[in-house]
Parts: sequence; structure tokens; C-alpha cells
Amino acid sequence: MPTFAFLSVCAVPFLWVFLRAICTLIFDKNYFGADPGMELVTFFGQVAIVFLFMTLSFSHLGRPLKTLRVPRMRRILGLSVFFYATLHFASYLIFLAGFEFEKYYYDLVTKNRIILGSFAYFFLFLLAATSIDSVARNLGIAWVYLHRSVYLIAGLVVFHVFLSAKENFSFSVFLFCGCLALLGVRLSKAWRRSKLRTPIFKA
Ligand code: HEM
Repeated sequence: MPTFAFLSVCAVPFLWVFLRAICTLIFDKNYFGADPGMELVTFFGQVAIVFLFMTLSFSHLGRPLKTLRVPRMRRILGLSVFFYATLHFASYLIFLAGFEFEKYYYDLVTKNRIILGSFAYFFLFLLAATSIDSVARNLGIAWVYLHRSVYLIAGLVVFHVFLSAKENFSFSVFLFCGCLALLGVRLSKAWRRSKLRTPIFKA
């Protein structure tokens, strides 16, 4: 799939919100429900996590999808996670915290879910900042270890969502199982690879 087409697919959720905002302005009608701020925070958060899980799954499609330039698409997906997580954070700051950093700071020190989300966002920022080729080359093996923290991010976000769920926990349980399954596949691959590398001496 050409890069531009893939980028366009990743931009669909953003364009959907943009279209709703334009319609709200043109037709003077609310297209964002009873609580537009919360609607945006929830929507962008859900899109970010779906893209995060797609990024993790893409890592395992390397062999079957060789023709699809998987590394490049994985990078676009990863940057989309950061993009939507930034919109999620920005919507929270603008609509829920009223652009008051003291309010964010208060939430940060009093609510575990905000601490977990902020840690996840901080790691996402590090991954996005080090995704440029020249930075990756300079970091060498450190880049590989840093980018493995994507599983830590997934774990933090799953708990962030779990603590954010008011009564329905099915979404967070579903995410938790998905996270475990992907981590299981990753670890079993690493274990098989390490067994292949270890020479077997027969007595
Ligand atoms: C600075 C970091 C973050 C802040 C301040 C933040 C804030 C919030 C808030 C306020 C909610 C609404 C529920 C509530 O009031 O507790 C929420 C829910 C959520 N957040 Fe975050 N978040 C952050 C990072 C992230 C990241 C990095 C992701 C994903 C990659 C994410 C994904 C979600 C999801 C999926 C939900 C649940 C939406 C639902 O109700 O289905 N958040 N977050």
C-alpha cells in the first residue's frame, strides 16, 4: 500500500472530528453530544489505544506481509498513536482542566489514572522523538531497548483505562487480554530466537 494512502487511512478519525466541528459551525447544531469535552477526550483516547494495539500487532506481521513495507507502516502507525494521544491530552487540558495547569497538577498528584496516563504519554513522546532515522542510528542498541518500552506503555494505558472506567470494565478487560496475548507472542518469539542462537553440546 502506498505511504500516502496509508497516512490518509490513519487520518480518518481526525477528519471525522474535523467534519463534525465544521458541521457544528455551519448548521449551528451540536454534533458532539451532551458533553462535547468528554466526548472528544474519550474519542481521541480510544483511537490512540486502537492504533497502539495495531502497532503492536504489526510487529508480528513482518513475515507474512513482507511486500507491504511493514517497518514504514509501523512507524506511521506509531506516530499516529502519538498524534491521537496528544489530541486526547490537549482535549483534557482544554475542556476538562479549563487550560489551568494547576488543575492538571492537582489531578496528577491526586488521581492514579492521570499519573499512569501521563507516564504513558511521556514514553510515547520519547518514542516519537527518537523515531527519526538519524536519531535512531546515533542511539544504536539503546534505541532498540527504548522502543521495547512500547509494551510498558500498553500496560500503563490498560491500567489508565481500567481506573477511568466508571462501571463498565469490559473494554479494559478486553484490552488487558489483548495486551497479554501480544506480550506472550513477543516473548515466545524471543525465547525461540535465543534457543536457536544457543549452541547445543552433546556429551
Ligand atoms: C497526559 C496523559 C493523559 C491524560 C491527562 C489522560 C486523561 C484522561 C481522562 C481525563 C480520561 C477520561 C476518564 C476520566 O475522567 O478518568 C481518559 C480516558 C482514557 N484515556 Fe487517557 N489520558 C492520558 C493519556 C492517555 C494515553 C497515552 C492513552 C492511549 C494511548 C489514553 C487513552 C485513554 C482511553 C482509551 C480512555 C478511556 C476512554 C473510554 O472511556 O472508553 N490516555 N484519559
